[in-house]
Amino acid sequence: MTDSAPENAALENLSTEERTFPPSDAFAAQANAHTEMYSWAAADSVDFWAEQARSLLDWTTPFTQTLDWSGAPVARWFADGTLNACENAVDRHVAAGNGERTAIIFEGEPGDNRVLTYADLKREVSRAANALESLGVTTGDRVAVYLPMIPEAVIAMLACARIGAVHSVVFGGFSAEALRSRIDDAQARLVITADGGYRRGAPAALKPAVDEALGGQADSGGPLDAKPSSVQHVLVVRRTGQDVGWTPGRDVWWHEALEAASEEHTPVAVEAEHPLFVLYTSGTTGKPKGILHTTGGYLTQTAFTHLNVFDLKPETDVYWCTADVGWVTGHSYVVYAPLVNGGTQVIYEGTPDTPHRGRWWEIVAKHGVTILYTAPTAIRTCMKWGEDIPNGYNLSSLRVLGSVGEPINPEAWTWYRRVIGGDRTPVVDTWWQTETGAIMISPLPGVTAAKPGSAQTPLPGIHADVVDETAQPVPNGSGGYLVLTQPWPAMLRGIWGDHQRFVDTYWSRFEGIYFAGDGAKKDADGDIWLLGRVDDVMNVSGHRLSTTEIESALVSHPMVAEAAVVGATDETTGQAVVAFVILRGEFLDRVDEIGEGADVAATLRAHVAHEIGPIAKPRTILVVNELPKTRSGKIMRRLLRDVAEHRTVGDVTTLADSSVMSLIAAGLDAPKAARPKP
Ligand code: WT7
Repeated sequence: MTDSAPENAALENLSTEERTFPPSDAFAAQANAHTEMYSWAAADSVDFWAEQARSLLDWTTPFTQTLDWSGAPVARWFADGTLNACENAVDRHVAAGNGERTAIIFEGEPGDNRVLTYADLKREVSRAANALESLGVTTGDRVAVYLPMIPEAVIAMLACARIGAVHSVVFGGFSAEALRSRIDDAQARLVITADGGYRRGAPAALKPAVDEALGGQADSGGPLDAKPSSVQHVLVVRRTGQDVGWTPGRDVWWHEALEAASEEHTPVAVEAEHPLFVLYTSGTTGKPKGILHTTGGYLTQTAFTHLNVFDLKPETDVYWCTADVGWVTGHSYVVYAPLVNGGTQVIYEGTPDTPHRGRWWEIVAKHGVTILYTAPTAIRTCMKWGEDIPNGYNLSSLRVLGSVGEPINPEAWTWYRRVIGGDRTPVVDTWWQTETGAIMISPLPGVTAAKPGSAQTPLPGIHADVVDETAQPVPNGSGGYLVLTQPWPAMLRGIWGDHQRFVDTYWSRFEGIYFAGDGAKKDADGDIWLLGRVDDVMNVSGHRLSTTEIESALVSHPMVAEAAVVGATDETTGQAVVAFVILRGEFLDRVDEIGEGADVAATLRAHVAHEIGPIAKPRTILVVNELPKTRSGKIMRRLLRDVAEHRTVGDVTTLADSSVMSLIAAGLDAPKAARPKP
């Protein structure tokens, strides 16, 4: 393996992959999407989106203005209209006579099941909304949601939307530290959490992390921060029944609050540009960005893409998106779009290999799942486990397969279609970001002849291009930077509390154009191939991680003097976190001793898990004496990536001290290189 950067892998695929998979006539004949959508949107994309907004959503006050870009780069869509997201996701289906339709089929990891119809969901969200209001939460307040993948996560988010409160979901795998910084940044007034959730066959506690974050429990290791937080109450769902610490006056059981609450609640109509949620995502600095999404445009584009990219037939499909609500995919394609479209969906709490490696396929067969949306890393893991496992289940109900989160290599794409899709289903590779809010580049099933490995075409009404350093579109056959050249309805409206960072991060590289941070290439047909990030952002198992954020976690450990983190290509997870650390002098002398005994790597991995969360744990930690830096002191991650991927180290002429690379390479072979067991 001499050349395994994601760029090169994708470029190789590009030159060898020639198969296309046109839709069957039968699929095309029944598809929601049509070729004419492209010409309509090309002729007038603003009119196109206005029509989608009118036909897909119920407006309390119809809008008369579609797009206002005069405040660029902050767009306003449908600004004089009012609506409520929860009413669109729940109440209107009940009002239309579909109250008995199943909204959520919940599959708990231990095997427990729960089915919620739209009428059930309406009752639960109404009670939850009343409970939030009785705890003092009101329109515009921020609510942190820190829950496992259980129906209450969906109910909590919708209840916030129902009263116009802004949810900030924090992935349950994030640490107390990460939770606290997100609570502080958004000044959340309430936290909704659970005692715990089931993961890998056992209850995994969540409440202690909330207690630690808020400093409320003496036995939780002490308050993280002496400063009081903005949080007034913690609403606690009982899921596992495990013991929880309790702060009287602050903590309230969810079930008690809901039992006491009325089933009647009138949704609060808000302006289309009212904030719906903030979702934190990693950037190129140590501080996560609170990506802000608003209501009308976000719901329009998520609903449109869900109907057309997955060909959803709400009356008959059983849709399953495997994403956690802690990520944007869980917001757009678990909570909002499927419910706004009146669909039936499966929600699964646990891991794909609990209690056995066929669990996902068992769920597909059991509930007759017709549409499956998952991530390439999961597909590659299943490939590794072997096709005998899915072959043991009846997967014939499946009719559309989707992929998201990272480039899907053609091998994984074709395996997905052949083994999971029975050589019959369209596969849609969907490119988008937390910031874009909804799918941007994707084939349309029934219309597009799919090309394994390529996200292909901007959706109707979306203006994406690949440009060179001077913002000029590159010709077919060339690579460059992926940009979005026109505003789109679900676009982020800013970074919470930091307008300048919003402008600097996305709008300053190219004048008036949104830069996505991804490299891409147009093939001979003009189809787009994503080549991975071009900034200091890593993509591990489809989750975004910042090199800088992990570096600051590492240097916050007393043992570490300096750290540099890179994403190295990994067969299963796409990229893996590799950390180079310099230990402090007093530890350096003892490195052999620590390396053998206390295990430097294990200590530091645990520290990163505690600071950020287990997903950020470096796969490999290498103890080195020097780091390669430019004369201005910037760490040259490119060179470290070469080392991490076992390549010949590239051009070192800009290094302040070019001998460090040989020192690092030599250090890698020495016993003090601390490598954790895989
Ligand atoms: C980054 C966004 C969008 C939901 C999940 C991730 C990468 C996403 C694809 C795809 C190639 C992809 C990009 C993007 N990415 N989808 N289909 N092909 N790359 O959301 O955490 O905001 O990450 O994920 O690099 O910029 P996110």
